[in-house]
Amino acid sequence: MMTDLRGKADAAVSELAEGINPLYRHRFHAMPPAGWVNDPNGFICYNGQYHLFCQFNPYQPVWGPMHWGHWVSRDLTVWERMPVALAPDMPYDAGGCFSGHAVLKDGGLALLYTGVSAKGGDQCQQQCAAVSRDGISFDKLPENPVIPASSLPSGMSARDFRDPKILAIDGGYRAIVASRDARGGRLLCWRSHDLKSWQRDGELIAGVGDMLECPDYFCLDGCRVLTVCVMGMPEGSFGAPGCQPAVWMGASAVSGEFSANQAAALDYGPDFYAPQTCMAPDGRRIMIAWMSSWNNDLPTRRLNHGWNGSMTLPRELSFLGGRLIQRPAREIFARIGPLAAFRGRGSIVCACPVSAMIDASIGLHGEDVIDMDVFRSGDERLRIRYSATDGLLTADRSLCGYPILKDAVTENVACATTVSLFAGRLELQIFLDVCSVEIFASGGEKTLTLLAFPMGAANTFAIASLSGQADLRVSIGAITA
Ligand code: FRU
Repeated sequence: MMTDLRGKADAAVSELAEGINPLYRHRFHAMPPAGWVNDPNGFICYNGQYHLFCQFNPYQPVWGPMHWGHWVSRDLTVWERMPVALAPDMPYDAGGCFSGHAVLKDGGLALLYTGVSAKGGDQCQQQCAAVSRDGISFDKLPENPVIPASSLPSGMSARDFRDPKILAIDGGYRAIVASRDARGGRLLCWRSHDLKSWQRDGELIAGVGDMLECPDYFCLDGCRVLTVCVMGMPEGSFGAPGCQPAVWMGASAVSGEFSANQAAALDYGPDFYAPQTCMAPDGRRIMIAWMSSWNNDLPTRRLNHGWNGSMTLPRELSFLGGRLIQRPAREIFARIGPLAAFRGRGSIVCACPVSAMIDASIGLHGEDVIDMDVFRSGDERLRIRYSATDGLLTADRSLCGYPILKDAVTENVACATTVSLFAGRLELQIFLDVCSVEIFASGGEKTLTLLAFPMGAANTFAIASLSGQADLRVSIGAITA
C-alpha cells in the first residue's frame, strides 16, 4: 500500500503551522509546530544529536491518526523539526503507529513501535520495526509485524499489546512489551538476533493495575530501573493523583522477574506521562515526558490555537541515598541569564517573565506556611504552598486563567507531595514557560509538573510567609534567545 502519507503529513503540518496562535507557545520546551503530540518516542542520542520522536497527529490539534513526529537537538534545548518518521500507511498499522523506542543498528537507527489495525471488528496491536541509515528516513521491515499478536500467551489481550521498549544487548535485541490479562497489567519480554524474528523470553512484572503503558528499562548507577505508566491503580497508589507513571528500582536480568525494592511516583503533578530516557554521550541518563495527560481538554484547543501538547524539560536522573533524583538537564542553564536576586524577611514581590527560572531558598520559622505565587497579575496566580506542619508542598492552579477540563469538568485540583528540608531550608527550583510550571523540590528529590493558562500578563512572582519571619532568598533567571 505504501502511499506518500509522510509527505502529506509534512505538508499538512506546515499549512496548519501558518495559522497557529503563538500566545501560549513555550520558549524552551519541545513542542509541535502545529497539531497534536502525546508520548515521547524513540528518544536516543545518535551521531552527536539527540533524536526525539513523538506520537503526532499532523492534521488537527486533537488525538487522531498516529504518526511519529521527529525532532533533533544538539543541546536538548533547541529542537529542530524533522520530516515525519512514520505514517500509518500499511495494513498492519493503518489504525496508527503507536509508541515505541529506538536503538542504534548498523551505523543507523532501528525503531520498534506498535502497529494498530482492525481485526474482526476489534482493534489489534502488534509490534513492528523500521530501520534507517541516516536517522531521518525510515523503512518499515517487510517482515512486519515482527512480534505479531499470535505470539501472545493465551489469555493475553491483543487489543492492549503495545509500547515496546527495545534494548540492544550482547549483539542481539530484547523487547519489553505491555499487555494485560484477567489478573491485570503485564510486561512480557522477547529476544531476537536480527529484529525480524522474535522469541518469547520471560516477563518482568504481572498483575499490576489494569494495564501498563510505555515501559522504559535502564541501568542507573548500577541499579536496574523500570519506569512504566500504570492504569487503573487505586487513586493515590504511588502517593500521586490518578493514573501515574511510576518507577520501580530493583534488580533483574532483562527477562527475569523484576524484584523491586522500591516503587514510587515519578512526578506529583497532573501533567507528566509516558516518560522515556536516553543515555547522553557522557553517560548521563536523561528523561523526558509528555507534559500533559489523557482527557485533558486544553484551552489551546478550545481557543483554536492550532497546537496541543508538548514535552517536559529534559531531566538528568541519579540516585542519592537510594532515592531517584531528577534535576533539569544541565544544558538548560546555558539558556538562562541572571535577571535579579532578592533577600528579605517575610515577603518579596518582584517582576518575573513568563519564561523564567526561580530559585527560592527559604529558611523556615517554626510551623510556618509559605505562599509563592507564580504567573501572578491582578487576581490571577498559580499558588505553590509549603506548610511546615505537615511538610506538604501543594500547587494549585484554580485561580490561574483558563480552566483545564477533564471529561468536560474543570480539572483544577491542587496537587501535593511531602518534601524534605535541607538544614531547615526549603529549596525549590521552579521553571515557568508561558503555560507550564515544573517544580524541582529539595535538589530534585520530588518534582511537580502542571500546565496553567493565565489570561493576564502573569508577570509577577510573590512569596510570603505567614509568620512574617521566614528568611527568603530568591533569584530569577530569564530565558535567553
Ligand atoms: C500512552 C499511549 C500509549 C499508546 C499511545 C497512543 O499515552 O496510550 O499506550 O501507544 O499513547 O497514542
